[in-house]
Amino acid sequence: MGLQMFLAIFIALTFCHKTSSEIPPNYSFMHEATEAAKISYYDYIVVGGGAAGIPLATTLSERHSVLLLERGGSPYDNSNIMNSADFCNIFYDMSPNAPAELFFSEDGVANARPRVLGGGSSINAGYYTRDDEKFLQDAKLTDRNLVNASYEFVEKAMVFKPVVGEWQSAWKGALVEAGVAPYNGFTYDCVTGTKVGGTTFDESGKRHSTADLLQFANPLGLSIYLHATVTKILFTTKGKERPLAYAVVFEDDFGNKHRAYLKGSQNDEIILSAGPIGSPQLLMLSGIGPKDHLNDQQIKLVLDQPLVGQGMADNPLNVIFIPSPVPVDYSVVQVVGDLPGFQIEQVGNMNAVLGSPSDYHGYSYEMGGFVFLKLDGPISTGELKLKSSNPKDSPNVKFNYFKEPEDLAKCVEGISTVLKAIESKAFSKFRYANMTIQDILDLTVKLPTNLPVHANTSSSLEQFCKDTVRTIWHSHGGCQIGKVVDDDYKVIGVDALRVIDGSTLLKAPANTIMLGRYMGVAIQSSRLASEKSEAGLLFSS
Ligand SMILES: Cc1cc2nc3c(=O)[nH]c(=O)nc-3n(C[C@H](O)[C@H](O)[C@H](O)COP(=O)(O)OP(=O)(O)OC[C@H]3O[C@@H](n4cnc5c(N)ncnc54)[C@H](O)[C@@H]3O)c2cc1C
Ligand SMILES: *[C@@H]1O[C@H](CO)[C@@H](O)[C@H](O)[C@H]1NC(C)=O
Ligand SMILES: *[C@@H]1O[C@H](CO)[C@@H](O)[C@H](O)[C@H]1NC(C)=O
Ligand SMILES: *[C@@H]1O[C@H](CO)[C@@H](O)[C@H](O)[C@H]1NC(C)=O
Ligand SMILES: *[C@@H]1O[C@H](CO)[C@@H](O)[C@H](O)[C@H]1NC(C)=O
Repeated sequence: MGLQMFLAIFIALTFCHKTSSEIPPNYSFMHEATEAAKISYYDYIVVGGGAAGIPLATTLSERHSVLLLERGGSPYDNSNIMNSADFCNIFYDMSPNAPAELFFSEDGVANARPRVLGGGSSINAGYYTRDDEKFLQDAKLTDRNLVNASYEFVEKAMVFKPVVGEWQSAWKGALVEAGVAPYNGFTYDCVTGTKVGGTTFDESGKRHSTADLLQFANPLGLSIYLHATVTKILFTTKGKERPLAYAVVFEDDFGNKHRAYLKGSQNDEIILSAGPIGSPQLLMLSGIGPKDHLNDQQIKLVLDQPLVGQGMADNPLNVIFIPSPVPVDYSVVQVVGDLPGFQIEQVGNMNAVLGSPSDYHGYSYEMGGFVFLKLDGPISTGELKLKSSNPKDSPNVKFNYFKEPEDLAKCVEGISTVLKAIESKAFSKFRYANMTIQDILDLTVKLPTNLPVHANTSSSLEQFCKDTVRTIWHSHGGCQIGKVVDDDYKVIGVDALRVIDGSTLLKAPANTIMLGRYMGVAIQSSRLASEKSEAGLLFSS
């Protein structure tokens, strides 16, 4: 054994006790795409094993043969994913199959796309909440018993009550003093005021993603291939009134192509759950999108659908760093303030995640924390266009943060509320008495954002919002319900194809895990009903 190998093993054994002793679940139905047959046949083909795709495929596997294709790998063997304390390291992993694919939007803001089984739920901050009434209406989730049953399905398997430490606790009082009232205690419900929300990190800091929901899959019904990048959906028009989706092409890590076909019963379907960026991209790559754009990319047109990739939006995030005279315990998003149009969340002691004690303009991240202001909605939208016809090229996306004055006004209102909370009595222990609010804002303006910094001091809150905008990774809207898909999430103008994921949303955030479960149950029941009525017809004739 070489010295280097010996050292690597020594380090792994010394420092990685927690993760190396965890036994990953043995899903007998999960394989590498390199092991997949050249050609195979299923009742349902689900593209993307993310937040929505896994509960969807898991549910459909109860009664049908289902193929789930995910371009990333398993989350269980990656300690950055599995341990809350290593969360930030995910975004420093630049390896070719890294679980976060980093990119810049055309706005110049650094962003990340999930590339791992579990999707966003494997790399996100783990905050969990139910949705508001407006979302349920917009998303046409009319069966409210099924909505609640779907929330419960998710919550039982992967959501926990957080252990709230001193710093997060201080925010309860601080937010209420700033007018984010009432205090609602611990609840999954979406309520105005301040609450302790759910988390997908358990008491020991271990992450639970939608990959955990696969324990409920029917092992005889489900096949999952990892590192399987879907490059195209195939359509036929032979003898059809309109294009019919009948197969997908996917590529494994050796660059070999495979084809998966629908068996061909009239209820069989391909379902895109490739996420807010992946689904509009894949529709366009397959010939469904704005005609001129597809022409420019030399993609054969299947359906001229100018609205694919339109209405792309992302919720702007602005953070404020607050240095503390006393140590702050490590925590990720537990106490949350909700007012109409915005949310306030906190992350304590970034040193714990950044690894080494870091000096920041004389302050350390260990002695302090970040408060996050994220806007709901937003009203400002942009668009997604293909960079090239290569499926591995992440598309060009522009979100136009703060283009609409209403969004900027909301940001100013939100930041003003945050500043009030920082100045509150309840928070005084964690704030230097000799630091003014202006000092705190000026310190934050110096935080790296990857944006061209317009000023070194925050002359106005409007300017502060624009200069320090980041993403909270809630992009949505490229395949909107009512525009690209109908109320049943069927792609308008073609057959046997749905989109079920964050790309269909009109506004974010929203619980796409519940959406996946809900639609799985809904599709299964309506198929059962239609097969029963067919059988009934046969019997009576
Ligand atoms: C860093 C970060 C922090 C976040 N924090 C929170 C939070 O605290 N709370 C919260 O509720 N939400 C949070 N979110 C948002 C949340 O994770 C997303 O809203 C959610 O994951 C979207 O679900 P989805 O099913 O639409 O897509 P995704 O979960 O993105 O799943 C899409 C899947 O499709 C796969 N895919 C894409 N293209 C292809 C292809 N061509 N072939 C095969 N597979 C493909 C992807 O690899 C991915 O696994 C966060 C997101 C990120 C990235
Ligand atoms: C995992 O399950 C498969 C099939 O169910 C079995 O062949 C294999 O031995 C199992 N592996 C482990 C490590 O338990
Ligand atoms: C669903 O649960 C919410 C609480 O999250 C409750 O207020 C509502 O009445 C429930 N709806 C139904 C139809 O049971
Ligand atoms: C604020 O007070 C701290 C001690 O509590 C001191 O170290 C620091 O220099 C002071 N800062 C200013 C700007 O006066
Ligand atoms: C901000 O500060 C940097 C370095 O301190 C300087 O190079 C830059 O010109 C300043 N920008 C403005 C707008 O003052």
